[in-house]
Amino acid sequence: MKKSRIVGVGHFVPDQVITNEYLSGIMNTNNEWIVERTGIEERRWFTPGKDTVTSMSLAASNLAIKRAGISAKDIDFIVFATITPDYFVPGNGVLLQRELGIQGVPALDVRNACSGFIYALSVADQFIKTGMYKTVLVVGAEIQSSALDKSDEGRSSAVIFADGAGAAILKAVEENQHGILSTHLHADGDFAEELYLKDPGSSREVRLSPEIVDQPSFKMFMNGNTVFKHAVVRFHEVIQEALAANSLDQSAIDLLVPHQANLRISNYIQQKMGLPDEKVFNNIMKLGNTTAATIPIALSEAWEQGKLKEGDLICLAAFGSGFTWASALLNW
Ligand code: UT7
Repeated sequence: MKKSRIVGVGHFVPDQVITNEYLSGIMNTNNEWIVERTGIEERRWFTPGKDTVTSMSLAASNLAIKRAGISAKDIDFIVFATITPDYFVPGNGVLLQRELGIQGVPALDVRNACSGFIYALSVADQFIKTGMYKTVLVVGAEIQSSALDKSDEGRSSAVIFADGAGAAILKAVEENQHGILSTHLHADGDFAEELYLKDPGSSREVRLSPEIVDQPSFKMFMNGNTVFKHAVVRFHEVIQEALAANSLDQSAIDLLVPHQANLRISNYIQQKMGLPDEKVFNNIMKLGNTTAATIPIALSEAWEQGKLKEGDLICLAAFGSGFTWASALLNW
C-alpha cells in the first residue's frame, strides 16, 4: 500500500489588518479583554471586491505547488475544506480547479468547519493509500468576517474569527517513507447548535428575505463557554488517540500544530501534555481563527520558519462546529 506525504505547503492572508483597537471602535470590547481571553492581537479580514475564497485559495495553492516542485497539471484530485464558499452552489473546489486550469480533475468540498482541513487531509490520504490518486491538493480557506455579528451582541465571536487560506500538496510515496501515519475523525451532532450559522437555510419556503437578514440566525452564533469546555477535552483525547494508534509517547512529538481556536486552548493542551514552547506552533496572535484555514496556514508559516524538518513527528489536531474533532500524525 502507498503512503501520502506532504511535499509542499503555501498560504495567503488578505492585507487588511484588523487590530483590537479597530474592533474597540465598532463594538463594546477592548484590547485587554481580547488578548487575555483569546491571545489575539490582530487578524486579517478580506477586502470586498478584491479577495474571494477562490482568489485566496489560488494564491495559497500556487505557492504550495511551487514549493512542492510540481506543476498544477500533476494534480489529480482537489479536496477543498471551507464553510464559507464563494457560491452557495457549486462548491469552491471547482472554482479553484478552473483557476488552476486543470479542468476535468475531480474536486470535492468538505464542510467540517474548524476540523475541515484534517477531514480533507484524511480523505486525500485514503485516496492515495488505495492507489486511486497520486498527487492531491488539499485546501482550507475561509472568509468568516462577512458572517460575523459586529455589534455588541456578537462580540465574543467577532473578535476571534478571521479570513485566510492555506494549501498542501500530498504525494503518494512508498510505505517505508516519511508521510502521514494516521488520521482520526470524530463528530457529535448533539452539539450542532452550540456553534452554528443557521441562515440562509433550505428548510423553509423562502431561504432569504430582508427579515431573515436582520435576524440573529443570519450571523454566526457561538456558545463560547460550552465550545471551550468541550474543545480542551476533545483536543487532548484525539491527540492521545493518534499517539496510541502508532504506539508513540507524547514526548516523541516534535511539533504540535493545533487548530488556532483560542490561544488559551492551545496553552491548556500544551500544559496538560507537558510540551515546551518550541514544540507547539501558534500564530493566532497575528491571524485570529480562520476556521479550516488555520492548520495549513500554520504549516506553511512553520515551514517558512524552518520548524518542519525532514522526519520530524508532527501532530495536527482540531475541534469545532458540529461538534467535530480530528487529529493527524505524520513524519515530515
Ligand atoms: O474554532 C472553533 C471553536 N471555537 C472555539 O474553540 C472558541 C471557544 N471559546 C472561546 O474561545 C471563549 O469562550 C471566548 C473567547 C469566545 C469567550 O471567552 P470566555 O472567557 O468564555 O468569556 P465569556 O463568554 O464567559 O464572557 C465573559 C465576559 C462576559 O461578561 P459578564 O457576563 O461576565 O459581564 C461577556 O459578556 O466577557 C464578556 N465578553 C466580552 N467583553 C469584552 C464577551 N466577549 C467580549 C468581548 N469584549 N469581545
